[in-house]
Amino acid sequence: MNATGMQNKVRAGSAARVTPETPMVFEWQDRQIAVFNIEGRFCALDNLCPHKEAPLVDGKPVFEAGQMWVSCPWHRFLFDPATGRCDRSGFDTRAYPVTIEAGELYVWVC
Ligand code: FES
Repeated sequence: MNATGMQNKVRAGSAARVTPETPMVFEWQDRQIAVFNIEGRFCALDNLCPHKEAPLVDGKPVFEAGQMWVSCPWHRFLFDPATGRCDRSGFDTRAYPVTIEAGELYVWVC
């Protein structure tokens, strides 16, 4: 949560532009946030990998251990797109809820 304890609803762009092949990044305050379409489900993670700051937007969705993950393009750490949990301890990242209204994506940041 931010200082006010409120979530901010941030318009991220047209949902039609974010396909499984073309995730996107937008900036909010000092953050880069990557938005993915993984098998038709939208999710958002901090773009910079908490390991060595690779852009997760360049990562690939992979199915492993019974679920979908975003794989970091540099060292292949895996991130749960729904929660930000990393498969390596100590490298969890932030995940953000995503909603769609009238074809527009909104990311809920705090
Ligand atoms: S920079 Fe992402 S796993 Fe190393």
